[in-house]
Amino acid sequence: KYEKIWMTLGSASLAIFLAILGISSVHAGHTPAASGIETINPDFVESDSRFGNPGLYESDSGDYDYDLYFTASAFMYEPREVEIPKGSRVRIQAATKDVIHGFSVAGTNVNMMVEPGLVSTYTANFNKTGEFLIICNEYCGVGHADMISMIKVV
Ligand code: CUA
Repeated sequence: KYEKIWMTLGSASLAIFLAILGISSVHAGHTPAASGIETINPDFVESDSRFGNPGLYESDSGDYDYDLYFTASAFMYEPREVEIPKGSRVRIQAATKDVIHGFSVAGTNVNMMVEPGLVSTYTANFNKTGEFLIICNEYCGVGHADMISMIKVV
């Protein structure tokens, strides 16, 4: 009869273990939103002074040199092109005016999804001069392949 107790204990602890696994995986599924993505009001992109006039802004934060604002819409980014001084640490913030777009800077590890109602954020160092193409890597419609912008590190 001891065996039965051990069997019961065994399956009970297995059930608890699985429950913990389930909880932590659900939790992990939500954590990417906490880092790098901030929820915004849908009309924010039009009304915000910086998203309304996207581009490079000097930052007074000690953590990075510039704030770089981008808007994505079918089928373009604004600004169409931006110059960044070499050696800058830049906090990129991107928001969409319509559907889901991508925001990937070729040749770097900057790669984000830009979703309606969210601000996608990525802080990156630009230590190499050159031209870096920004491409949309989420299919967004007929103009998807033409949706590009350019970062020039000078
Ligand atoms: Cu925007 Cu694909």
